[in-house]
Amino acid sequence: MSYGFLDIAITPSVRAAQKAMGVDHIWQNFNGDRDFDRLTENEAAFIAARDSFYMASVSETGWPYVQHRGGPSGFLKVIDDRTLAFADYRGNRQYISTGNVAANDRVSLFLMDYAHRARLKIYAHVEEVALDADPELTMLVTDPNYRARIERIFRLRLESFDWNCPQHITPRFTEGEVNEAVRPLRERLAQLESENVELRARLATPGDTQ
Ligand SMILES: Cc1cc2nc3c(=O)[nH]c(=O)nc-3n(C[C@H](O)[C@H](O)[C@H](O)COP(=O)(O)O)c2cc1C
Repeated sequence: MSYGFLDIAITPSVRAAQKAMGVDHIWQNFNGDRDFDRLTENEAAFIAARDSFYMASVSETGWPYVQHRGGPSGFLKVIDDRTLAFADYRGNRQYISTGNVAANDRVSLFLMDYAHRARLKIYAHVEEVALDADPELTMLVTDPNYRARIERIFRLRLESFDWNCPQHITPRFTEGEVNEAVRPLRERLAQLESENVELRARLATPGDTQ
């Protein structure tokens, strides 16, 4: 049986750590089928709802580098079940991720859904695509309503993904989600306020008790 994500993640030192903790047998004799090398509708829907993720790249000196990427919801596009792409916007112009992936195309993406306490981890190979190289792709990753300058496109070839359990994830909500959740309360409050104004006016009118 397979567990694609761990085939990548478990190196000799990881195996040694598992052995030291007495759990290497769990992962050596893994009795499941978790290739997870093709995105399903489940992952595609999760990815389409994200407006940010973290991306780790590897520097030429072996240091991991984690950066945040954000954009309009769904800015990370699922092109097909093994391909993802996103517009890389102008930022602080350090270009650390860009430089890293030019030397080593391995990246790890970390996608959080705090509200539902879910997280998705992705191993991929990434390539930088110039904006004029593939007009169809450029159009796909461009949102004309989003105010940011696209400098390049990163296209990712999926190696494997994995889901984590919700443990230790504190539910957090975006401003939009909070607004949506309190909308019925706001509406009720407005209704009660106008009723209150009406009742006060009636009380202030001598003789009007209806
Ligand atoms: C004006 C501006 C300043 C920024 N300053 C920082 C910063 O000091 N540190 C940081 O980590 N990101 C900063 N960012 C966000 C990064 O520039 C952004 O995440 C960028 O995509 C990083 O690219 P890189 O991972 O290739 O270096 C800034 C963005 C802007 C627009």
